[in-house]
Amino acid sequence: MNEKKVVGEKAVEFIKDGMVVGLGTGSTVYYTIIKLGQLVKEGLLIQGIPTSVQTEELAKKVGIPLVHFKEIEQIDVAIDGADEVDTHLNLIKGGGGALLREKIIAKAAKTFIVVATPSKMVETLGAFRLPVEVVPFGAELTEKHIRELGCDPYLRQLEGTPYKTDNGNYIIDCVFSEISEAKRLEEKLNMLPGVVENGLFVGMSDIVISLDQNKDVMLIK
Ligand code: A5P
Repeated sequence: MNEKKVVGEKAVEFIKDGMVVGLGTGSTVYYTIIKLGQLVKEGLLIQGIPTSVQTEELAKKVGIPLVHFKEIEQIDVAIDGADEVDTHLNLIKGGGGALLREKIIAKAAKTFIVVATPSKMVETLGAFRLPVEVVPFGAELTEKHIRELGCDPYLRQLEGTPYKTDNGNYIIDCVFSEISEAKRLEEKLNMLPGVVENGLFVGMSDIVISLDQNKDVMLIK
C-alpha cells in the first residue's frame, strides 16, 4: 500500500469548483497535486497557489491553473504535508525547505488540511530536526543565538555549500530533544534578528488526514 498516495489523494475530496487552493510541497502532497491535475482535466474549476518553485513546476505540468496573490481575495483551502504532527495537531514542517511560503499560505487559508502518513504522528514534537530559515547575512551569529535557546543547530548543506531556499535564505536544522512548549519556542525563534521563519506550525491545522491502525483513512480534527 502506498500510504502517501492514499492520504494525499483523500484530500481532494475537500476541493470544490471555484476554490483557490494552496498547494503544498513534498512527497505526500505530490499525490494530491497529481490527482487535482486529473480532476482539472475532467472539468474541476480551481486555481492554485504553489508553496515552492518545485510545486509550481509540478502544478503547471499537470495543468492546474495558477494565480497570484494580487488576483485573489482569499485562499479557500491549503493542503500540505508535515514532518511531524503532535496530538494537538501542531506540526514541524520544512524538511523540504519550503516552510516560509508554506506558512504564509497555510495562515491565509480558510481551511488548512495536512496529509501525513502514520510515521509522522508523534506524542510530542522534536525528534525531527526543526528547520529555521535565516538570512545569509550574519548566519553564524544567528546560529549562535539559536543555540542559546537549547538546541544543537546545523546549517543545512547541499553538495558542500549551504542549501538555499526559494527565497535565497539558509536553513538551520535544530536538534531539540523534545519541544514541550511549541508556541513559546516559535515566538522566541522568530524574535531573533536574522530568523525569517521557523517550521513550527502551532494551532494552524484544521484537519489532518492520516491512517488508523487498520490502515483505513482517518480524519483528525
Ligand atoms: C516542505 O518544506 C515540508 O514542509 C514538507 O511539507 C514536509 O517535509 C513533508 O514532506 P513529505 O510529504 O515529503 O514527507
